[in-house]
Amino acid sequence: MYSLLEAQNLIEKHLQTFSIPDTPPELYEPVKYILSLGGKRIRPALVLLACDLFSGGVESALLPAVAIEIFHNFTLLHDDLMDRSELRRGSPTVHVKYNENVAILSGDVMSILANRLMNQSPGVVLNTVHDIFTRTAMQVCEGQQFDMNFEERLTVSEEEYLTMIELKTAVLIAASLKIGAILGGSSQKDADDLYEFGRNLGIAFQLQDDLLDTYGDPSIIGKKLGTDIVDNKKTFLMIEALEKASSSQDRELTGWLTKKDFDREEKISAVVSIFDALKIKELTESRIRDFYNASLLNLKQLNRPEERKAELYNFASFLMNRNR
Ligand code: IPE
Ligand code: IPE
Ligand code: MG
Ligand code: MG
Ligand code: MG
Repeated sequence: MYSLLEAQNLIEKHLQTFSIPDTPPELYEPVKYILSLGGKRIRPALVLLACDLFSGGVESALLPAVAIEIFHNFTLLHDDLMDRSELRRGSPTVHVKYNENVAILSGDVMSILANRLMNQSPGVVLNTVHDIFTRTAMQVCEGQQFDMNFEERLTVSEEEYLTMIELKTAVLIAASLKIGAILGGSSQKDADDLYEFGRNLGIAFQLQDDLLDTYGDPSIIGKKLGTDIVDNKKTFLMIEALEKASSSQDRELTGWLTKKDFDREEKISAVVSIFDALKIKELTESRIRDFYNASLLNLKQLNRPEERKAELYNFASFLMNRNR
């Protein structure tokens, strides 16, 4: 049985030895760059751990796992461009280090590369796995579009927000587990149960990502703090704040959300003061725990021996205690 750390190391080794073309360098260097910056590798690790839950070997899951990590990194290139983010994994984002066209095209080629790798899944499960992958990839784009749409809106309901993060983030985590399970020879029911575990864990994960964007430690998180506030993102924090705000707080928040010219730090600190006054951090932490607990219940109900599930419990707790 693989531990989380062993799974992450195996992925890292594969990503570094896996051959990416050299020419034209303007296209492929940024691919190598983003993949060399590290990252938690949680999605491919989940593919391997889910596979390991059923079969004796994870070899058949290695390429699909790498495919999912490359797909995830493609979404980061485009996401950082769309979000105007300057820092990723402690280094300049691709569109800042190179340029915007590079972020688009190198991202595109990564998405195609991911597809090609996924296509090398073992023949007996190829259609099933590929279908889950492409459906999930479309959902991620749908979620990203909702995320962009919401920047322009002053009110977004919690329900709309939850659908958006399920699409942009949770389904890829869920699909990683489901694909891993199918590669490991699981039943449809077990694969679906694992998907549900990943869906709840993925929602908790994005809520936490929102929290870290405002309250994380800038020296650890590797991204620029407060980007969500600057971008008018309708994060869980912002939605709750808008809902709980007094009329004067609401006026102030709405003022910041509609202001075109502002000082970045001034806007962040004003919005954070309102979040603080409304105890939004605590509220978010409590919602994270709700989804985390729901995911643990899904895992408990999964029809596998408890000792086989140990690494997934470890995984969930590692995710919930993360600070980057
Ligand atoms: C960041 O994902 C994007 C989100 C879906 C929130 P991760 O936090 O998994 O990023 P890396 O791969 O570890 O850098
Ligand atoms: C990212 O959400 C979701 C995807 C990359 C699909 P965010 O925009 O919140 O992710 P970060 O915070 O930039 O990593
Ligand atoms: Mg972003
Ligand atoms: Mg984004
Ligand atoms: Mg974020």
